Amino acid sequence: MGSTDNLTTYLLEATRSHVLVACAVLLAALAAVLRHIRDSRTVDAPDRRHVLITGCDSGFGNLLARRLDAAAGFHVVAACLTQRGAADLSAAASGRLKTLVMDVTDGASVAAAREFVSREVGERGLWGLVNNAGRSVPIGPTEWMELEDFTKVLDVNLMGVIEVTLQFLPLLKKARGRVVNVASILGRLSLTGGGYCLSKWGVEAFSDGLRRDMHPFGIKVSIIEPGFFKTGVTRLDLIEADLKRLWTRLPQDVKDSYGETYLDDYVEAQGFSMGLLCSPDISKTLPPTCFFQRLSVKEISKRQLNLIVVLK
Ligand SMILES: NC(=O)c1ccc[n+]([C@@H]2O[C@H](COP(=O)([O-])OP(=O)(O)OC[C@H]3O[C@@H](n4cnc5c(N)ncnc54)[C@H](OP(=O)(O)O)[C@@H]3O)[C@@H](O)[C@H]2O)c1
Repeated sequence: MGSTDNLTTYLLEATRSHVLVACAVLLAALAAVLRHIRDSRTVDAPDRRHVLITGCDSGFGNLLARRLDAAAGFHVVAACLTQRGAADLSAAASGRLKTLVMDVTDGASVAAAREFVSREVGERGLWGLVNNAGRSVPIGPTEWMELEDFTKVLDVNLMGVIEVTLQFLPLLKKARGRVVNVASILGRLSLTGGGYCLSKWGVEAFSDGLRRDMHPFGIKVSIIEPGFFKTGVTRLDLIEADLKRLWTRLPQDVKDSYGETYLDDYVEAQGFSMGLLCSPDISKTLPPTCFFQRLSVKEISKRQLNLIVVLK
């Protein structure tokens, strides 16, 4: 009798735990399906929405401009740093994509771009702003830097993002639009000296504040945090040449404190780690897809507002 009771209890408990596991699996599957449905719903009428992207001469910005233009049919205004970059991009895109020249560190240049975009968008306002322009050098040991080495980078990557955002907010409010700020994994890990990591940490903080402040106006603010990809900002030849410039101007006693081989070892380690980390073909990488998704998906969930893009 006792052993029958034990068997019955065992079977009841086993059945109950199987039912619980099955329910949990079903709920997880249902949540995944609902998430998939939500994420595949895209905004209506992209051909009536305008997106401005900064830093489109090369890299992620250039690729995103061409994808939003060709694949999604948005009205893209691609801001390039150089006339040459603008002409090359125009030649590679549809007639709908407009280019302009904008230096994000120059308030007058940003204001002129705002006038142009304002005429383009009219009463519809600006649907998307992608703050993508950036530079990396000088990067290197902190002691080798002078103040202006920090500001060169901070002016583009942080103050540029702030300036452009402030100037375009009125147009974004009209469209209850979206801001996509390009930070970096180095906005979480300070792996190198110089202004780059500081600037990206700053972009993270600026974006979080902006998201909260713009919530009542229906503006969504996303941060993209790419890992390491072979583009202009990771060009080893430029980084190495700049490290040599920094080293050369150091006083002899500071050089002595590092030792004769320090620069060569540093450059070698930099080359080794970049070779290991950098994904070679950006057309196959996630960042442009993530930017694209932030602008085209109908609903942005809280989970999607901040995203780390994996290394490769
Ligand atoms: N590649 C990566 O591994 C990686 C990782 C994390 C984050 N990011 C970020 O992704 C963004 C795009 O960089 P990318 O990797 O695509 O490199 P990229 O090809 O060098 O693109 C950056 C673009 O910004 C432009 N730019 C520089 N200074 C500017 C200024 N003052 N005003 C306007 N435009 C300016 C550059 O023009 P010039 O080439 O003519 O200088 C370049 O076209 C940057 O914010 C970068 O920090 C990149």
